[in-house]
Amino acid sequence: MQDEPVNFTMVLFGANSDLAARKLYPSFYQLARWGHLSGAYRIIAVGRGDLSHEAFRTQVREKILLFSPGTIDDEEHFASFCLRLFYVQVDLEKIEDYHSLQREIMHVSGEPGLCSHLLFYLSTPPALAPVIVRNLREAGLGGKNMECGGWRKIVVEKPYGTDLHSARELNTEIGSAFSEEQIFRIDHYLGKETVQNILVFRFSNGIFEPLWNRNHIARVDITIAENFGIRDRGAFYDQTGLLRDIVQNHGLQLLASVAMEPPVDLSADAVRDEKAKVLRSIRRITSRTIEQSVVIGQYDGYRSERHVAADSRTETFAAVNFFVDNWRWKGVPFLIRAGKNLAETVTEIVITFACPPQNFFGPAESCSYTANQVILRIQPEETIAIRFGAKRPGESVITDPVYMKFDYRGSFSQPGMTPYHRLLLDALDGDQMNFIRQDSVEYSWAIIDAIRDALSGRVPDSYSVGSWGPPTDLQG
Ligand code: BG6
Repeated sequence: MQDEPVNFTMVLFGANSDLAARKLYPSFYQLARWGHLSGAYRIIAVGRGDLSHEAFRTQVREKILLFSPGTIDDEEHFASFCLRLFYVQVDLEKIEDYHSLQREIMHVSGEPGLCSHLLFYLSTPPALAPVIVRNLREAGLGGKNMECGGWRKIVVEKPYGTDLHSARELNTEIGSAFSEEQIFRIDHYLGKETVQNILVFRFSNGIFEPLWNRNHIARVDITIAENFGIRDRGAFYDQTGLLRDIVQNHGLQLLASVAMEPPVDLSADAVRDEKAKVLRSIRRITSRTIEQSVVIGQYDGYRSERHVAADSRTETFAAVNFFVDNWRWKGVPFLIRAGKNLAETVTEIVITFACPPQNFFGPAESCSYTANQVILRIQPEETIAIRFGAKRPGESVITDPVYMKFDYRGSFSQPGMTPYHRLLLDALDGDQMNFIRQDSVEYSWAIIDAIRDALSGRVPDSYSVGSWGPPTDLQG
């Protein structure tokens, strides 16, 4: 949260993007409404179309009303917010347009030269990022061109590239205009309270950490399931697929949070060092191991979605059995399972502990349903449960699984912050802990590229809408 009033200008590329409409405009307005943006700030939205500032402000209002009803609860306050919104038409390929943008920045910030704090936000398809950054640099807007006091930062939305090669190119391009401390690569999962709590749960409690390793943990299951399809994102999704849309970022970041070593301190780099080491230790899946490691699926009816190829092989479901080849985790499977149009919308991490050496209270197999588990439910409920076996009341000694549960909402009054509120504030504050560093992006792409190469165009198994996806009997 910003303590000191900070004057800044945010330049948002992708004024008409779905993300801007659903998340960025409502979040920005709420931060202003809650008093988190106490300085003079302005938002310059950049788009292709010709639009007056006034027309743009009306559009923002409509989007907020549509996607975040109830957010505008004080028309007078909203009217003053609108006066801070500006619109600039830019052809992203044309350097002259970046010079006009530069003039507009100086004009709205009311400062001579480019000394004001500047935050560029790229809410654009990945292919456009390199050209935007190149032109920013050439127009003297890059972070390395600073001539006077303010800060300059760039926030880049996922997907960050589409494979290792494009991510590296983008890193090189961005790196020529901004230094790593100025680059904020977003994975909005890292803005979720329950994801941030994984570190706290692990490292602020003495009882779990001694058991958090291959000697005591049998397996880790990470589920990211959605009970809806690709909505109106057919063009993007058919080029992307689930491995790149979910596993490369959200899935592997959750895995890294569960598997990382304790950081030396809580600085952004110390935490990100440990996550990077995990990603680097993940065993590569090859054409030899693909069969036992990966299942991909596609929901029935996917090929009839708008903007999807009639013979599409794009996966809308994937289950991948990863191994982290390091001292702590060698041999423990980490199964990431994610998909669209599944039975339920739920994200959770289940850590299953090894069975006791002898099972006195039932057949050996019964351990599979009474083995201890820590269940971190990320959403929609925000809970942590611990499963253990208890004696079923009665004369015979039979064990049943029971749960001890902590519920975020029941235990704390929620301030209503969403991932975008937190991440926007973090970016303004310059706190990079919950943003992805260059090395992690590249490790993650290398993992996903290897899987995609090994799949070499495999046709996904079909599954029914509302099911849990195709059968996944992965042995690792
Ligand atoms: C996005 C993906 O990154 O995350 C979407 O592109 C997905 O396909 C979304 O639906 C899920 O986010 P959340 O926060 O709703 O779990």
